[in-house]
Amino acid sequence: MKFASVVLAAGSGTRMASPLPKVLHPVAGESMIARIVSELSALSKVHVVINPQVRTLVQSALAAYPVEFHEQAEPKGTADAIKSVDLASFPEDILVLNGDHPLIRAEEIKSMYDQFLSKKLDLLIATTTLKNPKEFGRVVRDERGELKDIVEAKEASADELKIKEINTGVFFIKKKALLEALEALENQSATKEFYITKLAYYCYSQSSLKSSAYPASYEMAFGVNSPAQLARATESVFLENANFWMNKGNIIVDPKATYIEDGVSMGTSCVIYPGAYLKKGTALGNFCVIETNSYLHAAQLGNGVQIKGFSYIEHATIKDKASIGPFARIRQGTEIEEEVKIGNFVETKKAKFEKGSKASHLSYIGDATVGERSNIGAGTITCNYTAGKTKEKTTIGNDVFIGSGVQLVAPVEVEDGATVGAGATVRQTVKKGSLFFQTPEGKEIENYSPKKKS
Ligand code: UD1
Ligand code: MG
Repeated sequence: MKFASVVLAAGSGTRMASPLPKVLHPVAGESMIARIVSELSALSKVHVVINPQVRTLVQSALAAYPVEFHEQAEPKGTADAIKSVDLASFPEDILVLNGDHPLIRAEEIKSMYDQFLSKKLDLLIATTTLKNPKEFGRVVRDERGELKDIVEAKEASADELKIKEINTGVFFIKKKALLEALEALENQSATKEFYITKLAYYCYSQSSLKSSAYPASYEMAFGVNSPAQLARATESVFLENANFWMNKGNIIVDPKATYIEDGVSMGTSCVIYPGAYLKKGTALGNFCVIETNSYLHAAQLGNGVQIKGFSYIEHATIKDKASIGPFARIRQGTEIEEEVKIGNFVETKKAKFEKGSKASHLSYIGDATVGERSNIGAGTITCNYTAGKTKEKTTIGNDVFIGSGVQLVAPVEVEDGATVGAGATVRQTVKKGSLFFQTPEGKEIENYSPKKKS
């Protein structure tokens, strides 16, 4: 493709009523601007017009893409935004679009460009018809139906406001026509502010220039100016992703209440219950079940993994047939092997659970390894953080039985086949096959009452 793209992203986004720049608001986990740039960068060189005050923020949101930034000193409107770009080095064909249309797709831009070329146009504006066009710019056509002008809603007459065809803010233009139009409009603007949309009338008024309208899809036309529109864009991406994974043979019990971001993968025959949130980087094998209100962020699941309700899992690996939760918190660096069972109110961090091991209730296991078939009793804690402020390791061998309420003070090791009795505080190695329990025994004082204390 031989065009360059200019994304206008320097507006203040007042209608969002938020300190975050509008184009950085996320739609299903990805900022609006990153969504647009990711589609465009496959097709063209991408230029982004930004507000210098938030340059670092926008740059970091687009770090993954080879983008050229242009600064618009003050957000004085879309026409002023395009003027902040030096077009000298640009190719003949230029795509200009707003940074607040997050649902735009490369495929559609491609077909629009094909039309721009095949009809030998100087200007091609994507438009659509809306039942209730609200604040969108209205497309005015002449008696022959030719594209004549775009009138902003706040400047439109009562008759113009009745027009249902709107400007989507996406257009292809020849560089020569753009430069000419900007100059002509700038001269007029001494008295009146001009909008980028006035390019439409300029091209119409020049007999040498040919313009037309492209029928935009709902996705291309969807502009976000308010939090409610952001929510609708987000809802549409989540639904699209749910449909995609259902078509691969997965059951999504209520697609409207299931939140699957882009960058998630899934095998087949999984079942996902309402309220589940699958963030970018999460991968599910086949036959996994994700129960209600579980949150998975960059979680790698094998086949047949069961995540019971209300579990929170991030940056962790969980292998085949393991079962997690309900109410489990699996933190960064946790590796769970096959057939492991992690039950309710268990928190793990940087812990490796070998095949068939179990921690069924109320435990914290961090900086630890738990060997095959070993069992961790309820209320067991690995005390991994020392007074010297270092993190130390707990090593539990194979076939170990740790009773309830045990504290394992790291660094410490419980060797294969050992047993630790309930309530013990372990500070030393428990040798292979031995039993460790805490002495002395508790003491009972009979007929005790606080009043008789003295
Ligand atoms: C714009 C169009 C309108 C169209 C609608 C489609 C104009 C004048 N109006 O209105 O006809 O129907 O989009 O969504 O273009 N921006 C800058 N610098 C600025 C101002 C804005 O870069 O000084 C950027 C914004 O960050 C945004 C884009 O331009 O990404 C559009 O601005 P916005 O204020 O959202 O325009 P709309 O009112 O939506
Ligand atoms: Mg807008």
